[in-house]
Amino acid sequence: MHKLSFPILEALSDGQFHSGEQLAQRFNVSRATVFNAIQSAEAAGVRIYSVRGKGYQLPQAITLLSLEGLTTAGLSPTLVSMIEIHPVLDSTNQFLREQLTGVGQNRIIACNLQTAGRGRRGRQWQAQLGESLTFSIGWQFQCGAAELSGLSLSVGAALIRGLHRLGFSQTALKWPNDIVINTPQGYDKLAGILIELQGDMEGPSQAIIGIGLNLNLSKQTRVNIDQPVTDLASLQTQNTVDPNTVLTHLLHALLDTLQGYESNGFAADKEFWLKNNAFSNQSLKLILSNGSQVTGTLHDISEDGALVLNTEAGIKSFHAGEISLRTS
Ligand code: BTN
Repeated sequence: MHKLSFPILEALSDGQFHSGEQLAQRFNVSRATVFNAIQSAEAAGVRIYSVRGKGYQLPQAITLLSLEGLTTAGLSPTLVSMIEIHPVLDSTNQFLREQLTGVGQNRIIACNLQTAGRGRRGRQWQAQLGESLTFSIGWQFQCGAAELSGLSLSVGAALIRGLHRLGFSQTALKWPNDIVINTPQGYDKLAGILIELQGDMEGPSQAIIGIGLNLNLSKQTRVNIDQPVTDLASLQTQNTVDPNTVLTHLLHALLDTLQGYESNGFAADKEFWLKNNAFSNQSLKLILSNGSQVTGTLHDISEDGALVLNTEAGIKSFHAGEISLRTS
């Protein structure tokens, strides 16, 4: 993106019209430069209204992530020292992946606009400016990647704890680690987790824990997502969601979990996970990577994060991998 695009988007974040002339004066550049910066933001997928005689306007007022906002929201000094907020990144997971070389520090990368977000199973993750929270935590473990099989479930449990503290008590877990809201038709997805592991099977290892959470999706974004979705704004009465407050609560919960994970593993979160599972007593359908299907009801979750189902053929365990889970 043009180097002036993000400062202009910050100026437009109040949701008001700003004329090209006013923006040019504010940033001490020509109107042509403002025009180029706006075009470059649009090319990165940002929707900007342009009205002759009035200027430029975002579809809605938005609150951006900032260190100041996080500090005001009460983010702990330890976390403030670990976090970097970028205006625009392709993918926070990819950024961390390029930066993590061997054993290093634990880090948190968040961005206001993620242009090429990645989801599980090779999918894209849609995130528009002001509509979603996108961040990744790079975490160092002494243990090997083999011992981290339950990590994604513990991360899901931590997100639910953070969301409950924010007052979103209806949020639930869908194995292995989606955050969903139950609906009469099934469920709507609120957040997703993508964990990528690097390092030695025996240790040490590094996890890149990427989280995308829908805050306030526009109609257009919803149309582009090929599954039922929801956002925090739809789950509460006042329609504004401050990303700084949400991220602060989620990070406090996540750091508690990550700090304890190496000694306790998923076992520490198992009971909480089962209690907050979206599909107790429902008939479930697993679609395996070879296309075959298994139906059953939830029997248990094993301490290494496998789904244990009661099926017609008895009790069977399934590991996440390429399996997808539906209600049937
Ligand atoms: C899923 O498919 O459910 C996982 C989605 C994970 C999306 C997040 S957004 C921040 C981080 N960066 C990425 O490119 N992906 C993850």
